[in-house]
This record gives sequence, structure tokens and C-alpha cells, in this order.
Amino acid sequence: MLRIGVCGLGTVGQSFLRHITEHQSKIRSNVSVDFEISMIADRSIKSKKYPKNIAVTNNILDMASSSDVDIIVELVGGIDASYELLKNAINNGKHIITANKALIAEHGDELFSLAKKNNIYLGFEASVAGAIPIIKTLSNSMANEEILSLAGIINGTCNYILDQMSSYNLDFNDALDEAKKLGYAEADPTFDINGMDAAHKISILTSLVYKVASPLKHIYIEGIENITPMDMIYAKELGYCIKHLGITKKDGDFIESRVHPVLVPIDNVFSKINGVKNSILINGDKFGTSMLYGNGAGGDATASAVISDLVDAINYVSNENKTSNYSIGSIGTSSLQIKNNSDISSPFYLRIHAEDISGVMAEITNILASEEISIEAVTQHEPNDANSLIPIVMITNAVKGSLIDDAIKQIELLEHVKDKVYKIRVFKIDEK
Ligand code: HSE
Repeated sequence: MLRIGVCGLGTVGQSFLRHITEHQSKIRSNVSVDFEISMIADRSIKSKKYPKNIAVTNNILDMASSSDVDIIVELVGGIDASYELLKNAINNGKHIITANKALIAEHGDELFSLAKKNNIYLGFEASVAGAIPIIKTLSNSMANEEILSLAGIINGTCNYILDQMSSYNLDFNDALDEAKKLGYAEADPTFDINGMDAAHKISILTSLVYKVASPLKHIYIEGIENITPMDMIYAKELGYCIKHLGITKKDGDFIESRVHPVLVPIDNVFSKINGVKNSILINGDKFGTSMLYGNGAGGDATASAVISDLVDAINYVSNENKTSNYSIGSIGTSSLQIKNNSDISSPFYLRIHAEDISGVMAEITNILASEEISIEAVTQHEPNDANSLIPIVMITNAVKGSLIDDAIKQIELLEHVKDKVYKIRVFKIDEK
């Protein structure tokens, strides 16, 4: 009988316990030895609902040394206490399942190597994209592939907000309030909207796919805070919608790894991913293109991913040969470098506010021409009244980030250009 300790009874922890109770026979049919929940840890255990015949503690660190626990399911979140818990637990020979993306993105290298050294199962399927089985797909199903690129909508809150802004003309803050009410956003939604949550996820996927150490430090991170309903309308006029994507991609000896808003052509599959849904598009050198789609957030979706790790962990522990779970063993061994954002090429969307004076457009296009940037599409809008600024919106050809930044600096210095120029990359990935 394997004994499972559950740390954290928040939304995911509660769903996990419910699934274990309600779907026992289904889960048991997939494991080679029996199991039971032997201990629960939660800082405010007194206020939580849990089966009364189980040992409890309000100190999650107790679990690391408990002789009543073989596998720990960490659903606490945060970094410091969870890091302490997992490190001690692995050193004490306990197997681990975690949904903690921030922890894996920050300390994954160390925890993976510690787990490998101690023959410990470390499952983190639930840390990226909820119910979408991206970790197992990349580690197992795509083990024979060189992954050329991976791009995904991996923050449900951002996708929900952008979708609401575009479909219902909602303001950013109203859409965010809705996302909070529906329970999609993190406790501190700053991490969703400033791109950090997606950065944690793309960092984990970058480690897994390209085996580089600590990608998080080098990832370019931009959120959706500066996108306005105006950008939604202009993008639509030009045949695009705005999405927030995480991208990781091989380019020779370099990797592009980044999260930021992008303009996606309206006929691209990402433009159809609405609401809180996540989706990940993978390009491999042999299978070509494959796409995964599903619920990226929410108690049931995340708990389901945790249970898939639980099944793996139980089968791993009961298998003398300890053969699964070791694509993580080589993480951190690659010498590939992550490119600076300024060296990454793509087309750009530019929104410029200028006074309605003849010659301004010519000045702007001259600056772009002097940097050898060509304009693929442009729209100029009527001012609201005689004194207001005219928004000029354009899409450039594919150019390096440094080049567009140089051009923007010069455009912002023009006498009749007011406000900051806002840029968004346009999504462009070659599918095999
Ligand atoms: N806040 C996250 C999201 C939850 O919106 O995607 C899942 O990681």
C-alpha cells in the first residue's frame, strides 16, 4: 500500500481529493499497487473540508520527514516553503508530484538533478497548461522528435481578457474583473497579466525540449497591460486578432524563448482559441505539426493532470527498474544559448499618434526606409475632432527587434508625433 500525502487544500487540492474519492475504481484500474491518502497538510487546515479519518498538520514541512508518506502531492503554490518541502522530501526518499510552475521554473534544475540522484519520481504535468498533457507528450510521445518550435496560448486569464476585449469591446480592467470572478486568475493576477505566469510555463517547456539550464533568466517577458480596445479594432481591420503567446524555438545554435502579445492572422488556428482555453502548437522534424487544446486552468482540469502523475508515480515506485520519468535527467546539459529579444526578427505592428498635419506620414515612412524597414500595410484614422491626434497603424516586414527600436526612437523625436509608439510582434512560425 503506497501512502500519499497531500500538501495544500486550495481549489486544486479540494478537486484532487474529490477525484480520488469519486473515481477510485477508475484510478485503481490503472495502477499496479494500491494506495491511500495518509496525510494532509494545509496552513489553515481547520477551515478546510477533508475526510476525517486522515492525519492532518498545519505545517507543510512536517510532510517531508513523515514516516507515513511515500508520495507527496504539492499543491501549495509559492516558492520558498514549497522549495524547502520538496528538497527535504526528495532527500528523505519521498516521491513528488507538483503543480507549482513558479517553483519548477525557478528551481527545476536543482530539483530534477536531486530527484535523478536519489531515484525519485518528480512529476510536474499540472504545472503547464492544466489538463493539456504537454509534459508527457513532449517527454514520451515525442521522444523521437527534434522539436523545431513550440508556440502556445498558455495563460488562460490573458486569453480570456483579450477575447472579452475583442468580442465585447470590454475595457481591460472590466475583463480582468470577470476573469477574477470566474477564478481563472492567480491570487495575485499581476503574474497573469504581466506575462510572468506564461514565462514560468515556457521556461519549463524550454528546459524540457532544449535541455538548457535556467531558461527563465533569459526569457523575454511582456504582458498584456498596454493593449487597448483601440489595438483590437485596428488589428481586426488589418486582418488580425491579438493573442498572448509563449514561444520557444530553435534557430541554429540559439533558442528564441519569449512570452508577449502577438498579432495573429485571423485565419491562423490560434485566432480560434477563445475564452480561458489553452492551446499548444508543436513543430517536429519528423511528425510535422501537432496541436493540443484544452482547459489550462481550473480545479478539475489541474487535478486531473495531478492524478495522471499520481498513476505514473505509483507505477514508477512499484517498478523495480525505475525506467520512466527520466527525460528530466538531461535537463541543464545543453549549451544552446537563448537569443536576446533585440536579435529576434518578426514583422511588427506599430501604433503611432501624430498631429493631423500634412507631411507627418512622409517623415515616418522616411525613417522606416532609412532603417530598411518596409511597410506591408498601413491605416490612418480620422481624428475624433479637429484638435485630436490621428492614430497611424502599420505592419512592417520582418525585421530584428533592435532595428524597430531604433526606428521607434527616431519617430518619437518627430515634432508632430505625440505619445509613445506602441509595438506588437506579428506571429510568424514556419510550419513543417
Ligand atoms: N492563472 C493561470 C492561467 C492558471 O490563467 O492560465 C493556470 O496556470
